[in-house]
Amino acid sequence: MTNPKHIAFILDGNGRWAKKRGLPRTLGHREGVKAIERTLLALIDLKIPYASFYAFSTDNWKRSQEEIFGLFDLAKQYFSKGIDFFNSHDIKVTFFGDLSAFPMDLQIVLKEVSNKTKNNKTLVTGFCLNYGGREDIVHAINSLLKENKKLITLDDISKNLYSKNFPDPDFVIRTSGEQRLSNFQLWQISYSELYFPKVLWPDFNKKYLLKSLKVFSKRKRRFGGY
Ligand code: FPP
Repeated sequence: MTNPKHIAFILDGNGRWAKKRGLPRTLGHREGVKAIERTLLALIDLKIPYASFYAFSTDNWKRSQEEIFGLFDLAKQYFSKGIDFFNSHDIKVTFFGDLSAFPMDLQIVLKEVSNKTKNNKTLVTGFCLNYGGREDIVHAINSLLKENKKLITLDDISKNLYSKNFPDPDFVIRTSGEQRLSNFQLWQISYSELYFPKVLWPDFNKKYLLKSLKVFSKRKRRFGGY
């Protein structure tokens, strides 16, 4: 089978990675950012054109203030310092989720990185921040209601999701061995192949990506047909 066009990653295991080493959870997230960067380069090498990353869910607000603000700081640093990296590798950065809930300084950084990378084409990324799959669908329906739509089609919904410019994910990879979807792109993954490798996200690298692609290549996708 050909490689997937869009891989959706559920980044899981940062906390356990840190705990195993007696480190604070925030250091696990810091290593998680390095794994994102490695993965972006590996995706480009392997000519995968779209990737999305579940980095902060609508449920992650239940975590401690310390962890939440640690994640905001990391995101602010990563996306402000990363603009040159994204541009030198022709990576377009977009966001899925309701960013208006974030502190203004973070919102400004997120807006800037998406503006400054908007013409890049080699790898298109969707970072899911304050994202939930159910919320995505409700957000799409509300956009359609504003247009006074009376009858909604499948296509209408797809075209109003945060991922409207992405093909649906062919492949979902959730690291750390947990086997659930946790409200991730529920509409979009109807026919995705799912894979749950045991590796913790901060350890993810090109070798694991290649192994994942080998698993994907053995799947027989039928989309409800034969
Ligand atoms: C899951 O691990 C990870 C998260 C909830 C956050 C993911 C965030 C990053 C990789 C870094 C920040 C992202 C950006 C884009 C700057 P967990 O904390 O649930 O791990 P555990 O299940 O082992 O506790």
